[in-house]
Amino acid sequence: MCGIVGYVGKRDCTEVLLNGLGKLEYRGYDSAGIAVFQDGKITVAKSKGRLKDLEEKMEREGRPFGHVGIGHTRWATHGEPSDVNAHPHSGGRVTIVHNGIIENYKELKDFLAGKGVTFTSDTDTEVVAKLLDYRYNGSPIQTISETVRDLEGSYSLGIIFADHPEQVYAVRCESPLIVGVGKGESFIASDVPAIIEYTRDYYLLEHEEIAVLDDNGVQIFDAFGQPVKKELKTADWDVEAIGKGGYAHFMLKEIHEQPNAIRNTILPRIQDGLPNLEECGITPEVLREFRHIQVVACGTAMHAGTVGKYVIEKLARVPVTVDIASEFRYREPLVGEGDLVIIISQSGETADSLAALRLAKSLGAKTLAIVNAMGSSIAREADMLIYTHAGPEIAVASTKAYMVQIAVMYLFAFELALAVGNIDETECRRLVKLLQETPEVITGILEHKEQTQYIASSLITADSLLYIGRGLDYALSMEGSLKLKEISYIHSESYAAGELKHGTISLITENMPVIAVATQKALREKTISNIKEVKARGARVILVCRESDNVDPDAVDLKFGLPEFDDLLMPMIAVVPLQLIAYYTSVLKGNDVDKPRNLAKSVTVE
Ligand code: F6R
Repeated sequence: MCGIVGYVGKRDCTEVLLNGLGKLEYRGYDSAGIAVFQDGKITVAKSKGRLKDLEEKMEREGRPFGHVGIGHTRWATHGEPSDVNAHPHSGGRVTIVHNGIIENYKELKDFLAGKGVTFTSDTDTEVVAKLLDYRYNGSPIQTISETVRDLEGSYSLGIIFADHPEQVYAVRCESPLIVGVGKGESFIASDVPAIIEYTRDYYLLEHEEIAVLDDNGVQIFDAFGQPVKKELKTADWDVEAIGKGGYAHFMLKEIHEQPNAIRNTILPRIQDGLPNLEECGITPEVLREFRHIQVVACGTAMHAGTVGKYVIEKLARVPVTVDIASEFRYREPLVGEGDLVIIISQSGETADSLAALRLAKSLGAKTLAIVNAMGSSIAREADMLIYTHAGPEIAVASTKAYMVQIAVMYLFAFELALAVGNIDETECRRLVKLLQETPEVITGILEHKEQTQYIASSLITADSLLYIGRGLDYALSMEGSLKLKEISYIHSESYAAGELKHGTISLITENMPVIAVATQKALREKTISNIKEVKARGARVILVCRESDNVDPDAVDLKFGLPEFDDLLMPMIAVVPLQLIAYYTSVLKGNDVDKPRNLAKSVTVE
């Protein structure tokens, strides 16, 4: 949701800003811009479109040169993507970049208009720039802290003042912002990848903290302008982790990273062949307290929770409800003491999931976060925390984060089932062993991707398709369908196979392919019957099942054969061809796989 960078140092600031924005483009990419002090004056360059459009524009119209500046890559909220609405925005002496939303910008705009201030863009950001300028009394810190008190919403800002050409200011109000500390240089950024090439050391700004960057280094102040001493953190990412590593796209690289991501996530949590989540605050005693589990998340993370529901209910017989965070937070949910609310989030910053976590806590439920991004808001606010160790996920379409989210749900389900006495240690060890075998099985699938390419080539002319499955296969087909639609732009829905004939089957024609997932032995024949029903109505059917399954060739057009594996853990294996089918369909359609239109990686607005 928009990326911010800022730089103070000796390097060519424009280069540092563009480089950092390139690493943050996953957060939004409908326009980009920079503001740099050149010969003591603020010079702005901005453009609708990708970063390369900005670079081309600067080649034509001039590239600012200096050592102090701020930059932005945008995901539009207020105001369509355009040159005018692109950041930075200026208001007299103040120029800013902004991530997030100012909820009361209309009232503030009316207030300023009443004072004779005029506006050129449709953005809430310009209102903030002009409010800062209106308030500016020569003291940046005082002006920022007073202005922040009037702003409602969650946001972070990078700010420069025309009369302070040596300094960059920044303030965080909920939306994440870090301050990188290098040798003789400093940075602001929405996320670590933007600075990792220059420094690993950074401060994580807290709510309403203000940072000042200049030649003397970094100073941080609280909301009242009082200096704050903060712990310097060190990012453990390496530069390689944020490169494509020879793959055509980040998505393909991240699909291939899944075996290691699983190992990194589960192995530290297995002791003597059994799950051990004690370091995450989860013990058998704690687990036995919960009478109901509520999973809350968005998108892919919600789909991981849905797999978790099937597994937990089957193994532990504890009821689980799964909710979309944006629904949960406004439906006066029935959770409270004795309930466990699990929030799943790759970024740890998704606005609806964070709000759901806070609501669950306020209602007296215990909260467990399953989060990938270290130090993120959801990770810090939950009562218990399991980090997934997927490493940085750059492609907007989530793959390896989903994989480790379900791996954690399995481990959690095993431990819970053992704690409540629904399985014994022998069975628990068997399940843990199977989970440990999944990386190798996935590696085997990744070595034979040709069939997924072939399947993808059969899909590219479709306007719409259906994914069907039953039980865990249905949970998985939700993710397959989302993956395909978000990067191929082919309309797609997932349906419980048994539900088709209650309405949706009327959509079936020869122009609507059906991807059926049938890995669950007990449900297999039922799903095959549903496949025959759609086949009889002209659908082209692609079946994802075990290689060893003998399926009537008349019922299926194309098959992806999976290796033999336990039914319960099949989603971890079967998701891989679904990811690859989505990936290759997008590639074959010539889409921007890693940056699908209209999307952003981290959705920090509701
Ligand atoms: C889809 C995708 C999204 C995210 C969702 C939640 O590929 O990545 O659906 O899963 O926006 O994001 P996090 O997990 O960061 O809370």
